[in-house]
Amino acid sequence: MEKKVVLSGIRATGRMHLGNLIGAIQDFVELAKNPDYDCFYFIANLHTLTTRGDPDAIKRDLRGIVLDYLAAGLDPETVTIYAQSSIPEITELSWLLACQTGVSQLTDMHHWRDKKNRLEQEGLTANAGLLTYPVLMAADILAPRANIVPVGIDQHQHVELARDLARRCNYRYNTDLFTIPDLLDREGVKVPGLDGSGKMGKSEDGRATIYLNDPEEMITRKIMEAVTDTDRKRRTDAGDPGRCPFFAFHPLLSTKDEILHVQNGCRDASIGCRDCKRVVADHVLTILKPFQERRRAVESDHERRIDEILHEGGTRARRRIKETVDRAKDLMGVPAF
Ligand code: ADP
Ligand code: TRP
Repeated sequence: MEKKVVLSGIRATGRMHLGNLIGAIQDFVELAKNPDYDCFYFIANLHTLTTRGDPDAIKRDLRGIVLDYLAAGLDPETVTIYAQSSIPEITELSWLLACQTGVSQLTDMHHWRDKKNRLEQEGLTANAGLLTYPVLMAADILAPRANIVPVGIDQHQHVELARDLARRCNYRYNTDLFTIPDLLDREGVKVPGLDGSGKMGKSEDGRATIYLNDPEEMITRKIMEAVTDTDRKRRTDAGDPGRCPFFAFHPLLSTKDEILHVQNGCRDASIGCRDCKRVVADHVLTILKPFQERRRAVESDHERRIDEILHEGGTRARRRIKETVDRAKDLMGVPAF
């Protein structure tokens, strides 16, 4: 039986954070342990160009992500690790798919609306790459004929577009070339920012984000300074976990008993916000300390091997991707001569 293809990517935009680890990379590692899966994990450095222009930073962050992948436990011998920019056929497929996509499908995306509004508030205009971002992402997914795409909840709408385009192309060209990708069969995870607004992100305010390489004291400090229920002003006031933005960390990290303890203790003021945060801080440190040790080890062992890992992964992925894109071009009437 042919193995199922698992595929996901991370943009090369700054340092990785707890949201990337819990929302994505931990799943990447779990899925890679399954012998029935062939895993493709790449660095979406072409997507980075939609929001970032510094070439040195893009190159540096790409290397950092490869090391983070290795430190998290991915083995380049068994999973295919590559840079999106190594495979021109992905960009080629992206054009073919753009010609199958309605403009309103793109302008309706929450990603586009949010980014565009934010830029306009700063007096800037959005580039066309930001609008067609989800089409390139659909090409990333459909080109290696991915079956499963593990991503955080913020990316689900984009995977939905890839599904839609796969169905549309298969129908229009009377083919089964495009595999309909599935999300992981569970609810998506969203790690909130420590400032109580939105999700934790690479490019957001540094105080709202726990970076994977933050030192222990900084992690604890950021957590202790995180925004909680603003109506609970004094330690003796009863709190409401339902209104507290920080509480959202507990279902992601804490045990059932800890969650009950924190919920009850907050409601009857038998514990303070510091106690609640300590539980989360301990879990975060338990996850990040061993990760950071492995990160230091892979840095000294593998820094020189990064180019080789990306080259080997790129060659492997390209072979599979080229098959799809060559067939797609032919089906659509635009073969190479
Ligand atoms: P960022 O948004 O920080 O730039 P990316 O867009 O590169 O990160 O996301 C890489 C992966 O990490 C995606 O699968 C995304 O869904 C996941 N991810 C990013 N931030 C979070 C978060 N706060 N919670 C859960 N998953 C997240
Ligand atoms: N857009 C994704 C993000 O910001 C990164 C990404 C690009 C991706 N292409 C992908 C994820 C294909 C999964 C599959 O997180």
